[in-house]
Amino acid sequence: MRIRSDIVIVGAGLAGLRAAISAAEVSNQLSIAIISKTYPIRCHSVCAEGGTAAVLSEEDSFDLHAWDTVKGSDFLADQPAVELFVREMPNEILRLDNWGCPWSRTDDGRIAQRPFGGHSFNRTVFAADRTGFHEVHTLYERMLMYPNITRFEEYFVTNLAIEDNEVKGLTAIELKTGELVLFEAKAVILATGGAGRLFGFTTYSHQVTGDGMAIAFRAGVPLKDMEFFQFHPTGLIPSGILMTEACRGEGGYLINRNEERFMKNYAPERMELAPRDVVARSMWREIIEGRGFDSPYGPYIALDLTHLGEDKIDERLPLIRSASIKFAGVDPVEEPIPVRPVAHYTMGGVHTNMNCETNIRGLYAAGEVACVSIHGANRLGSNSTAECLVFGRIAGEKAAEYALKKNYYPSTDFLKEEESKINSLLKESGDESPYQIKSELNKTMDENLWIFRNEEGMMDALRKINELKERYANISITDKSRRFNTDLTFAIEVGFMLDLAEVVVLGALKRKESRGAHFRTDYPERDDENWLKHTLAHYTKDGIEFSYIPVEITKWEPVERKY
Ligand code: FUM
Repeated sequence: MRIRSDIVIVGAGLAGLRAAISAAEVSNQLSIAIISKTYPIRCHSVCAEGGTAAVLSEEDSFDLHAWDTVKGSDFLADQPAVELFVREMPNEILRLDNWGCPWSRTDDGRIAQRPFGGHSFNRTVFAADRTGFHEVHTLYERMLMYPNITRFEEYFVTNLAIEDNEVKGLTAIELKTGELVLFEAKAVILATGGAGRLFGFTTYSHQVTGDGMAIAFRAGVPLKDMEFFQFHPTGLIPSGILMTEACRGEGGYLINRNEERFMKNYAPERMELAPRDVVARSMWREIIEGRGFDSPYGPYIALDLTHLGEDKIDERLPLIRSASIKFAGVDPVEEPIPVRPVAHYTMGGVHTNMNCETNIRGLYAAGEVACVSIHGANRLGSNSTAECLVFGRIAGEKAAEYALKKNYYPSTDFLKEEESKINSLLKESGDESPYQIKSELNKTMDENLWIFRNEEGMMDALRKINELKERYANISITDKSRRFNTDLTFAIEVGFMLDLAEVVVLGALKRKESRGAHFRTDYPERDDENWLKHTLAHYTKDGIEFSYIPVEITKWEPVERKY
């Protein structure tokens, strides 16, 4: 089957929904398809809890938000992109307010803002601790107002159709029927989120398998800075469910087994509200030096909210209370929550410029799938949902302007070629299970690409990934049917993840320094002389090649990073 739309957006989380609305606002003559592998309101963006950063007060400033972001990034962020981002954010907050987002309010009715790690001003806008949920629902409802947007829910994208370095559309499996569909398009926007399921202990939903990154990479788009993965300090044990940074923003403490607020030893000024790389490393050090609490699920640190009182917890952190009661049997009103650092965010991604353009004409990327880069080596909490809104809007607008100028080109045999690939995959009856491969991949990433890294561990991971790639060539797809074949889509996702894991490990091995979330015990210092640059990984038929591009530094020279 072929479906033709002017613009196809892949992913219906915050960035994808925002892009759809902005493209529809450029022209009601454009047909816009938004494709998602789950229902839009089940996207991973609904798991964003703590908030969205924006300058709303006259006592705050764009320069301060930009400086916090640049310093938080360990000076790897591109400063013009950061400045654009902070200037655009207040408009996004007000727009969502107009569209009905139920932001939490101050007593006098203004939009409330809370403290977050690494921000020097209370600038995180929130809707209790369900910010992403409310933002997604607001955008989803808004999107329904535009008759030129069509939703394709439960479609699994397999490949991009590209000719002469220009995007022509993409192929996707309609999960309900198993039929492969060619979506023909003048412009495609990737908004598929990160690659967090490379790790086993993670806050990411199971669907976040880096599909957009892998598809773009295989099609010739470089991936930027993939060695930088964020570990959020507070994942509930044993599930990894996010215990939002807002717990600390609202006044929560991190406590070791000596009943000590140990952050005073690592970040005496900012304490629990230092940036995430600093807090996660400090917690991990406490754990490996034996100052964690014991549990059947391994050592943990206590996140203590008991002094906040029931009323404040119920008003500001209701989801946290119910999740920790349900999933850890702990009521935070009565006792501390058991937490441990957890894989949370992919700083790297599809290499784009500030207009969300890639090196393929007509192909755009926005949100976590993309790397503009505004987060550099470490993202500040609440800058991610914000990024989705700002760059989702820009991607939608730019793609719309591009599509208005283009004619359709007949696409060639993409459908047949992709169909034959999917059919051969479906016939695979080897000895290896994709589920086993995924679990071994997660184990090696958790062991060797975690908060503290070194050459030996990463070489082990690389050998393992190479072994898993060989075994992947001999997998079996047990379910041979077409309808809702999750065996098939899981196997495709595992293939994507193996490619991405190799990029992460090779990039991390090559970067012989410590910067932001990439901390090497064998190279513990930041090395601006040699490594103040972005990594680009290129897919070639002979393997991955790496190149480097300079960081755009316009206003703030790198200095020592202390909190
Ligand atoms: O802790 C949190 O609520 C997460 C926010 C973020 O990743 O920006």
